Amino acid sequence: MPDVSVLNVLLHGDAIGTITNVPGDQSIFAFSQGYIDNPRRPTLSLRFKDSLGGLITDIPKTQTRVTPFFANMLPEGSMRDYLALRAGVSSRREFFLLWALGADLPGAMILAPADGAELPPDEMDDDDDDERKKRIFRFSLAGVQLKFSAVKEAAGGLTIPVQGMGGSWIVKLPSTKFAGVPENEFSMMSLAAKIGMDVPDIKLVSLKDISGLPDGIGELKGSAYAIRRFDRADDGSRIHIEDFAQVFDVFPEDKYKRASMRNIADVIAAEAGQDDIAELIRRMVFNTLIGNADMHLKNWSLIYSDRRTARLSPAYDFVSTIPYIDSAKSALTIGRSKQMKDFSIEQLKYLAGKARLPEKLVTDTARKTVALFHEIWAKEKKNLALSSKVVDAIDAHIKTVPVAAE
Ligand SMILES: Nc1ncnc2c1ncn2[C@@H]1O[C@H](COP(=O)(O)OP(=O)(O)OP(=O)(O)O)[C@@H](O)[C@H]1O
Ligand SMILES: [Mg+2]
Repeated sequence: MPDVSVLNVLLHGDAIGTITNVPGDQSIFAFSQGYIDNPRRPTLSLRFKDSLGGLITDIPKTQTRVTPFFANMLPEGSMRDYLALRAGVSSRREFFLLWALGADLPGAMILAPADGAELPPDEMDDDDDDERKKRIFRFSLAGVQLKFSAVKEAAGGLTIPVQGMGGSWIVKLPSTKFAGVPENEFSMMSLAAKIGMDVPDIKLVSLKDISGLPDGIGELKGSAYAIRRFDRADDGSRIHIEDFAQVFDVFPEDKYKRASMRNIADVIAAEAGQDDIAELIRRMVFNTLIGNADMHLKNWSLIYSDRRTARLSPAYDFVSTIPYIDSAKSALTIGRSKQMKDFSIEQLKYLAGKARLPEKLVTDTARKTVALFHEIWAKEKKNLALSSKVVDAIDAHIKTVPVAAE
């Protein structure tokens, strides 16, 4: 293996920088001069934007890992171990994982080996390269759940492409730990859409109607949840996105720490404007009412539809977690508290004051969302694909959230 390996960083197809791996497994990310000098440069990340709008080019080198902006594009947990195993690389060595998976990353970025070697060095050393090429997946999605990028068929089914690349839907497989998670997510996202939030097309799909599911993911039964990717246009072209762990330069394992809803609100107010502040408030209110304790930094994203301006991305990963984990504590601090029993109009006024959001917009939006939630939940809860256990858990939870009565 050569001592130094380089991955070209391409954004919307143009080379904008490199990640270089040097002996000792250190990685260095640097922008190209052309990108630095381009006054109309497409945005890679707010992480690299300074307070005057200039580009931050002084990026610390990392050991074994890559800098958080790139580390956040890799899956976590068992999903990561699974893809690493198939690629024949250690799940800890992030540069080599990116090498294997960098052809199909979230957003409009691609990582391509500079010397053209399609596969990273085989650390497992157990197969010839042809075998490895057949086995390897070339896509990456963040998060913990097992999920794949898929193509929708005319008949309504979904196909996971051979070698895993391409596809404009995400299929999230059922959890082996908790029952009914796809049904729960489908129901919560449907409710959010009915209440007026920006929700992509979604589907519940019988596992029988999904072809191309790989071996080795265990016995699965029932349905999977599918959502249309908002970072892929109809013609297959890519739309850039980033999550708030990337914006705040936080490694994925710190997604519950190091930043709060106030920090997210600050960014939305400065970069995106009032419509997105209202949408942020709707989503905060809704997820507190359904008892979603998992809205961490990676479950909020920005989208760059015009390649430069940040807007709040469409919604994803809304799940009522209280039926599974008996904790009514939000993933991130809202106002002064993480406790959902403290979530009130007063708390939102405090947040508005701190983040300098228009207070009336915040409180009006919150009240409207609560009213719509009650109306739509009462009408829909019997029609949704939810067990009575989940409905009862949400009904009991709502009574503990002050905003629900305001
Ligand atoms: N519709 C979508 N379009 C584009 N990207 C998406 C979409 N839905 C999710 N993503 C991206 O994929 C990542 C994983 O999705 P999601 O959050 O639903 O998975 P998860 O495994 O349930 O996450 P967690 O680790 O929070 O449990 C998200 O962080 C986001 O970057
Ligand atoms: Mg998530």
